[in-house]
Amino acid sequence: VAADLTLLGFAGSLRRDSWNRSLLSAFVRHAPEGTTISSYPLGDIPLYNADYDGDRRPEVVRAMASAATSADGLLFVTPEYNWGVPAVTKNVIDWLSRPMREGPIWNKPMAIATIGPGPGGGRHMLGHLIETLGVLSPNLFPAPLALAGVSDQLLTLDGTIVDADLGRRVEEWLIDVCSHVRATAASS
Ligand SMILES: Cc1cc2nc3c(=O)[nH]c(=O)nc-3n(C[C@H](O)[C@H](O)[C@H](O)COP(=O)(O)O)c2cc1C
Repeated sequence: VAADLTLLGFAGSLRRDSWNRSLLSAFVRHAPEGTTISSYPLGDIPLYNADYDGDRRPEVVRAMASAATSADGLLFVTPEYNWGVPAVTKNVIDWLSRPMREGPIWNKPMAIATIGPGPGGGRHMLGHLIETLGVLSPNLFPAPLALAGVSDQLLTLDGTIVDADLGRRVEEWLIDVCSHVRATAASS
């Protein structure tokens, strides 16, 4: 039996009631067959500092990098802050991008999802994040999942999808992401 495909997810919001962490929890629950999706906790990750990179990397950063290296693909599930990428998300990317061209994010298959209560669906942030991740890897899944106008009629805090249409949309998206990760991981 082939080993499961593994996807490691990062939620770009630290607050307890984060919609983005709820969506990542929903991904964990709805992982397609033959796939394991896990959520990596970011609460203890310090801000990137080049003085503490390389051999001086904090143990928590080392552990995160090693989890990213082992995963077949990465999922960034992040809010939009001020039309841009929140520091929490960018901080993960910056740590994982070192050493240059060798850090675990380089050439990784990746996908982006964003969710929020507002009507915009993260569309201003997506361009920035796609540009950044596109520099680091040719294997970014080209269709981000962007969910606007979320409420607890659609998704609950623990990652239970209440709305059937949303459930289908999430499951179809995850299947497409996993096919992309399988195809690009095999070719890289
Ligand atoms: C500092 C800050 C900036 C924000 N900027 C935007 C924005 O530019 N566009 C938007 O649609 N929502 C914006 N929001 C609203 C967030 O999308 C909303 O708070 C969302 O629920 C945050 O994600 P979370 O629930 O995972 O924490 C902003 C929220 C904060 C706290």
